[in-house]
Amino acid sequence: MEALLGHIVNISEKKIVAMTQNDLLNVSYPSLDVARNEMTKLLSERREDYSLPRPLYNDPYLFRIDVEEIFQKEWLFVGMTSEIPSKGDYFTVEIAQNPVLVVRDADGSVNAFHNTCRHRGSRICLEHRGKVANLVCPYHQWTYNTKGNLLFAGTEMGDEFDMKSHGLRPVKVKTAGGFIFICLGDEEPDSNFDEFLATLEEYMAPYDVENTKLAVESNMYEKANWKLVIENNRECYHCAGSHPELLNTLLEWDDTTDPRATPEFLAYCERMANEWDAENIPHEHKSFGPRNRLVRMPLKEGTQVMTIDGSQGSDKLLGRIQNRSLGSLRILHLPNSWNHMQSDHFIVFRVLPISAQETMVTTKWFVHKDAVEGVDYNTDQLRQVWDATNDQDRILGEENQRGINSLSYEPGPYSKTYEFGVIDFLNWYSERIQENLNK
Ligand code: FES
Ligand SMILES: [Fe+2]
Repeated sequence: MEALLGHIVNISEKKIVAMTQNDLLNVSYPSLDVARNEMTKLLSERREDYSLPRPLYNDPYLFRIDVEEIFQKEWLFVGMTSEIPSKGDYFTVEIAQNPVLVVRDADGSVNAFHNTCRHRGSRICLEHRGKVANLVCPYHQWTYNTKGNLLFAGTEMGDEFDMKSHGLRPVKVKTAGGFIFICLGDEEPDSNFDEFLATLEEYMAPYDVENTKLAVESNMYEKANWKLVIENNRECYHCAGSHPELLNTLLEWDDTTDPRATPEFLAYCERMANEWDAENIPHEHKSFGPRNRLVRMPLKEGTQVMTIDGSQGSDKLLGRIQNRSLGSLRILHLPNSWNHMQSDHFIVFRVLPISAQETMVTTKWFVHKDAVEGVDYNTDQLRQVWDATNDQDRILGEENQRGINSLSYEPGPYSKTYEFGVIDFLNWYSERIQENLNK
């Protein structure tokens, strides 16, 4: 006990909570192998259209399997190409315990590498984002270029040392429409990802993402399992009770086929669709299984973008866009992103798991690259609605987690009309885990 206390006093209060919740109370399985079998059993026997059994939301072993089978194997959204506009610009990202760096190469391409030195493994880029000529490890100054080749390893490695075989370990990367996706797995996960990317390219073309810039970002720490964060995003059942700022502009239905859609709503959608067609702005709903969907939906009549009063967020419209009332192009990418593309700014969201009950939610707001802060846009105004909404969602997610941890929790039913997006997400998750575990 003393040793344990000795450990705890040296870590932050946040970690004590995480340890108490994750490690001390919630270990349900004697080993990872048993946990793998149990996971398959829990998923194959789960009640359809119901929330998941408790261990899938809080057990550290099952969390580790989530990381291994989803976050280390599937395509993940990490950021936008306009965050790293020129050679040597980079950002770093942590996929659970895997540090990754994403860097713009001299030839203009976007490269991704494990941010782990090939000498003794130190992280190389320590900052969240920055600009480098070469990638220099801070430990013993091994130096790599932006293609990952080792250029310099001091003079102490001996004549036999092979520089060529000590390049940075690459991470698969694909870009489309300004989005950057990475995959940590050895194999490409599935077949129709390129089809989605082609559509994403087409839908994002009017935005000319290369001529946008990151205006501001937020990183929100949430004490909830990553699946609860995504589940919360996949339904707006909770919106009326929790999101007054968002509902100034957001229409809760995100599909004209929604059974709740009124004739007035459908007529409004049709009118807006005609306006967008006249400008050659893609808007039709496209799905690529449950993993990806794109759809442009109008915002509330009389509003332009998701600001507190629906008025413009930036004076400069993006790309070739001329209509301020472009609604929002909603882009879903499972397992970790949803996005709102509007006329004068766009907002991207990235969800990354930290532990069974901890998640990082990153939100980034982009404007035209020539827009001037304080003149064309105001950062506080731009972020106000989603800062409020994110925090409201964080509390919902954390309370959901705490309730699930109770011994009284049992899976509950989803509404097929309000929560179909959650059902779709969990079906995708369950299928991917089972398929990946059986490979
Ligand atoms: S660990 Fe990177 S140079 Fe030694
Ligand atoms: Fe919400």
